[in-house]
Amino acid sequence: MKEQLENIELRARQELEKIQDSAELEILRVRYLGKKGELTAILKQMATLSAEQRPVIGQLANRIRADIEEAISARMAQLKAALSEKRLKEERIDVTLPGKKREIGKLHPLNSVLNEIKEIFLGMGFDVVDGPEVEYDYYNFEALNLPPDHPARDTQDTFYVSDKILLRTQTSSVQIHVMENQKPPIRIISPGRVYRSDAVDATHSPIFHQIEGLVVDKGITMADLVGTLDLLMKRLYGDDCKIRLRPHHFPFTEPSAEVDVLCFNCGGKGCSMCKNEGYVELLGAGMVHPKVLANCGIDPDVYSGFAFGMGLERIVMRKYGINDMRLLYENDLRFLNQF
Ligand code: DAH
Repeated sequence: MKEQLENIELRARQELEKIQDSAELEILRVRYLGKKGELTAILKQMATLSAEQRPVIGQLANRIRADIEEAISARMAQLKAALSEKRLKEERIDVTLPGKKREIGKLHPLNSVLNEIKEIFLGMGFDVVDGPEVEYDYYNFEALNLPPDHPARDTQDTFYVSDKILLRTQTSSVQIHVMENQKPPIRIISPGRVYRSDAVDATHSPIFHQIEGLVVDKGITMADLVGTLDLLMKRLYGDDCKIRLRPHHFPFTEPSAEVDVLCFNCGGKGCSMCKNEGYVELLGAGMVHPKVLANCGIDPDVYSGFAFGMGLERIVMRKYGINDMRLLYENDLRFLNQF
């Protein structure tokens, strides 16, 4: 029995050497020292021993148990130390490595120019208002003096939700909402998305942005319109900027005009950008048609007003010399980082 015990101690020590993790260590502990372990199995045979042998073997067994326990905890301590050593090595931070650069976003040129325009108008005492993009035919066309059979509707075909409900083709619809809800004096701009069933190309998109302007009060004249737009363009494009009004037709204004600005490229001499005109077209405007005022319950004999509508994309493209509208929607960082 003595040899058996010594043999157990020897094997346990040899196996301990090879153990690499704490789970294996636990299995070993149970195998040698557990209730059904080898050492216990031998101790159960103690009853067969003589009275002299029993205390001797008992002592030996206790010593061996204590020794194996100690060896196991020593091995455990070694394993723990090795593990934390390994962790420390793996998780070490090399402070000399260059840092990871975080890209910081910025406003899209459509938004930064829109913000600029809003600031200019806020400075002139205008409010910025919102309007619905899904709109009644009445607000988008009819109340703006475009009855159902009006030929000018053809140039603004859109997406219909039903016979009477559509995606707005112009922010001019907001004029009606504002005049229905607010009595003069009125001074607003209304930026937002508009929709037309146009195919995408360098100058067209089925979704684009407009900024509408409306001023209604007593004694408003064309001079107020020209002064307002002149100031807007000078702020936007620089003090050298000049505007020019050409007679035009819009059903909701009378008289109506198209507003051009001096060509940024050639300064008025004529070039390919302005098609030798010296000016480029930028927006539509006019004096609010008396019928439109009356449609909203505003007496055209007492009040007058001016309105204008401009395409935000066109303004941005002119400002930065961008020749293809699609660039504004593709979100290509090589393009966007230039602004
Ligand atoms: N709504 C017009 C369009 O989309 C632009 C416009 C022209 C707006 C003249 C106006 C205006 O307010 O007075 O083509």
